Amino acid sequence: MFSRCVARSAVGSTPFQTSVVKSRIISHHLSSVTTTRQCWGPISNPWVDGRRYISVYGYTQAKALVYSRYGEPQDVLQLHKHSISAPNGSQVNLRLLAAPMNPADINQIQGVYPSKPTFQTTIGTQDPSAIGGNEGAFEVIATGPGVQGLAQGDWVIMKRTGQGTWRTHAQLDESQLIKIENKEGLTPLQVSTVSVNPVTAYRMMKDFCDWDWLRTGEEWLIQNGANSGVGRAAIQLGREWGIKTLNVVRERKTPEETEALKQELKDLGATAVVTEAELLSRDFRNMVHELTRQGKEPIRLALNCVGGKNATALAKALAPGSHMVTYGAMSKQPVALPSGLLIFKNLVFDGFWVSRWGDKNPQLKQNTISDVLELTRAGKFKDIPVDEIKWSWNTEAPELIAAVQETLTGYRSGKGLLTFEGDD
Ligand SMILES: NC(=O)c1ccc[n+]([C@@H]2O[C@H](COP(=O)([O-])OP(=O)(O)OC[C@H]3O[C@@H](n4cnc5c(N)ncnc54)[C@H](OP(=O)(O)O)[C@@H]3O)[C@@H](O)[C@H]2O)c1
Repeated sequence: MFSRCVARSAVGSTPFQTSVVKSRIISHHLSSVTTTRQCWGPISNPWVDGRRYISVYGYTQAKALVYSRYGEPQDVLQLHKHSISAPNGSQVNLRLLAAPMNPADINQIQGVYPSKPTFQTTIGTQDPSAIGGNEGAFEVIATGPGVQGLAQGDWVIMKRTGQGTWRTHAQLDESQLIKIENKEGLTPLQVSTVSVNPVTAYRMMKDFCDWDWLRTGEEWLIQNGANSGVGRAAIQLGREWGIKTLNVVRERKTPEETEALKQELKDLGATAVVTEAELLSRDFRNMVHELTRQGKEPIRLALNCVGGKNATALAKALAPGSHMVTYGAMSKQPVALPSGLLIFKNLVFDGFWVSRWGDKNPQLKQNTISDVLELTRAGKFKDIPVDEIKWSWNTEAPELIAAVQETLTGYRSGKGLLTFEGDD
């Protein structure tokens, strides 16, 4: 894990001396804020040792990565500074612990993702804007008098996607949050990455295949993108649930690196790991025959996040009557299927989208998250590799935005993870 945090001297971004309050959140783009009342902030030494600054009125200084139009992150993202008041009613003030950068977050910024964020001026941006990021772990730093189930120091995640997690602080209603009931033994990385990828793997494996539990250890799952966050989760759940996994990864630059990746996944519990070239080779059929004891151990589920020829090859390996679930399209190639797979093998092709599933099944989502965190606490669910970007008060916009931009480049050693280094 390497840190790209660059320590810089405090910038001359002196907070306002006179500001205008619109609602509970005050912007530094004062011109864009409707004046409803005036407040006078303190005038001396506003940035204490380069860290957070709280005014005498209790306003928390916050920053958020926002965009007000769709495009490449490097063209449209901005670092917006604003202030957050003390919480009212059932509001909760939060401090970021960690937030990952997932492929879908980038697609959302590009405007090619089906769920569109709401562009608004709630945090006082000049133009209506959305805050990037859909997943993250936060710590409660203050609660309003009407808050019932949360207290200072609790860890929470967002109940739904689309609420914006790439921000140092947030003020949300208690009803928008899921409390991590027992944070003992958990890290911010584990909590911040639990709600999308592991939940996706878990639900696809539970809900799309009627596993024969009497044959535990004799049935298979095949998947591509096996080194992704979802893929790693599927491998580990397979190991726990007695489902063998045949995993496909792309070749690395050297055979040694490819072997190292294969071994990494085997260490997580992968039964077998092959490269995409092996998957597409003539020999793959024989390989599958041998692995599955001449077909006696059926491959009953395929998980596809790549598409193109890779997906077709996965489908061909399935036993009759099996399911293939498509949940991503990393190669941007369509899924093309020989008709015989539908007519003679009676394969079923489904899609899965965790955002929609989670909105329809909020309690089941919470239960799934609890299950994964229980496995994590027990040491049965290992951390995904990450490329940590430390976000301190002095971290400048280009560094954060460049990290976001890198998310969709392939062959990465780890997922981008923002970790906030500031106190409340
Ligand atoms: N439908 C849902 O509800 C849902 C939920 C979560 C995730 N997803 C999707 O699942 C996929 C994986 O997400 P993640 O967060 O787990 O990913 P991740 O950890 O960021 O890993 C990205 C994966 O994509 C592979 N990849 C990148 N570019 C590729 C290309 N051009 N062709 C083939 N493979 C490529 C990478 O392989 P290399 O290492 O070889 O580059 C890696 O395995 C994404 O498509 C994401 O949108 C969908």
